[in-house]
Amino acid sequence: MCGIVGYLGTAKAVPVLVSELKCLEYRGYDSAGVAVIEEGRLRVLKAAGKLANLESLLRTENAYATVGIGHTRWATHGAPTDKNAHPHTDSEGQIAVVHNGIIENYRDLKDELISKGCKFASDTDTEVVAHLVSTYYHEDNDMLKAVMTAVRRLKGIYALAIMNVEEPDTIYAVNHHYSLTVGLGDNESFLASDSLAYRQYTNQMVRLDQSEIAVITKNGVRLYGFDGAEASRPPTASDVNAFVADKGQFKHFLHKEISEQPVVLRQTLTKYMPDVNKPVLLRKADTASSGSAPSAGISLTNMQLRGIERIQVVACGTAYHASLIGKYIIEELTSIPVEVEIASECRGRKLLVNERTLTIAVSQSGETADTLAALKDAKSRGSFTLGITNRADSHLAHLTSNLIITQCGIEVSVAATKTYVAQLVSFYLLAMFLAEERDAVDPGRLLELKKGLMLIPTLQEKILGQEEEIRQAANKYKSVQDVVFMGRGFNYPTALEGALKLKELSYIHASGYAAGELKHGPIAVLDEKVPVITILVPGKVYEKTLSNAQEAKARNAQMICVSVEGDQNVHHTFDTILTIPPVDEFLSPLLAVVPLQLFSYFIAEALGKDVDQPRNLAKSVTVE
Ligand code: G6P
Repeated sequence: MCGIVGYLGTAKAVPVLVSELKCLEYRGYDSAGVAVIEEGRLRVLKAAGKLANLESLLRTENAYATVGIGHTRWATHGAPTDKNAHPHTDSEGQIAVVHNGIIENYRDLKDELISKGCKFASDTDTEVVAHLVSTYYHEDNDMLKAVMTAVRRLKGIYALAIMNVEEPDTIYAVNHHYSLTVGLGDNESFLASDSLAYRQYTNQMVRLDQSEIAVITKNGVRLYGFDGAEASRPPTASDVNAFVADKGQFKHFLHKEISEQPVVLRQTLTKYMPDVNKPVLLRKADTASSGSAPSAGISLTNMQLRGIERIQVVACGTAYHASLIGKYIIEELTSIPVEVEIASECRGRKLLVNERTLTIAVSQSGETADTLAALKDAKSRGSFTLGITNRADSHLAHLTSNLIITQCGIEVSVAATKTYVAQLVSFYLLAMFLAEERDAVDPGRLLELKKGLMLIPTLQEKILGQEEEIRQAANKYKSVQDVVFMGRGFNYPTALEGALKLKELSYIHASGYAAGELKHGPIAVLDEKVPVITILVPGKVYEKTLSNAQEAKARNAQMICVSVEGDQNVHHTFDTILTIPPVDEFLSPLLAVVPLQLFSYFIAEALGKDVDQPRNLAKSVTVE
């Protein structure tokens, strides 16, 4: 988690650092801070809370330094307070450090450094780095050597930016299994966890390798391995567009992003399935492999695709829920067995993949540490790999040559919405592509599903047209304490995602269950105070889901459903009915989630919650 930035040049550093931090606030907003070097002195300015608090603090300062580092934090070690905000310094206030990741052996290092007389000022793991670098620096005044010696003692995965007041023209950056990029401008250089941060200033960038130290000046960058060997890599052009966060007519990014879903789906479908009568266009173009930037598409041969015996999907959070639906979709169309794992559960385990397995990592940011670690593990065991991500420039995109890039644009709101439906549609397209490559499905059924898929954006627009009804329904339930979501088959994961959205946005406790599982325990929590939201779509499991809803009603629960328009059965069972247009059960998750997203949004809004940046969360989770 956390975002790192840096600047060296001729402009005032603080406004540049703040503009970079604004682009990285999605990585955490527990505190923010900057360190600049001015008149031979290190100045550290930091504040707990959102970046706006730091901005207020900076308004009364007139820092004219042209070099600095900055940080936005998601707390791991130490509460989100001023004292634990980055940057951290050594005892003399000579060396400043900002950090992303976890220093796993920080306790041992801290004890050692305290015994040598270092004075610690925070509860963070980060601070040991400042003292450690300082200790080595004072041995022979060689900063690169000091950084190199220090990082060899650190355990864990991390990224760092370090400044020394005695070298006011240099920033040292360290990347150890993280993402860190250096932007190169005209007589100025930038550093950021995500190149989006400096894209408005330059599109020339150098991505740091897995274990690398960068020595950055305003005139360029030198790269070194942890063993001291110098590396050389020419800058590449960033293919990320400069991004201006704009809510348009909406009060919140979340609402805007929910409303963008039909457009996002149309863009993804137009790109990958412009003609339903032709095969899905997921194959990588022949020309696409040149150059170093990752390109979308699948490069596996037909023989390799036919040889796949199992698919392993790894993901976290909302991407995990999209993947669970992906399992149902791929198995239905291709008969390839699919396992879905929460990526963090792959750690320290024997991942059962081999050269006849395709491992798919799903991550909107492409930076989630657990997901990347699981993918790397699978790759090292010989598995084919494929990434589904919204960021063509992400770490994930660089780890695999098979990529589906969702066409969402940047998602600002921390709770994922449009990237979720885009991940879902990617699974539909992937399943159709695999089914075509392996001749696994009846062509008539496939054509019917493709045509149905093309209609989804228009059907989503119909649901968005019912916002007022959904807002009214949400108002009725805004004071509840607990909510149960349930569904079967394709919409069991929709229930999980509905519950996650409600929790994230409103802080109301919610759980999602397979409807058939309710009777095996969760039903005990039901009484007249608990609303039960059932996702009920005509199809193979319709009657059974309705029976499960009856079981909940018999326990006096408040009954809500997401059902298709015109379903006459629901009026006897449910107090509140949210409708979606009639749809093939197979495609229904793409519609059923929309009223649930809006329901959670309207409850959170009515409760006055921080919709776009819910407490304790971050959009990109880069710690394990
Ligand atoms: C965080 C976000 C979630 C997201 C998850 C996975 O927890 O708050 O919204 O689903 O990370 O993120 P990814 O970028 O890997 O999809």
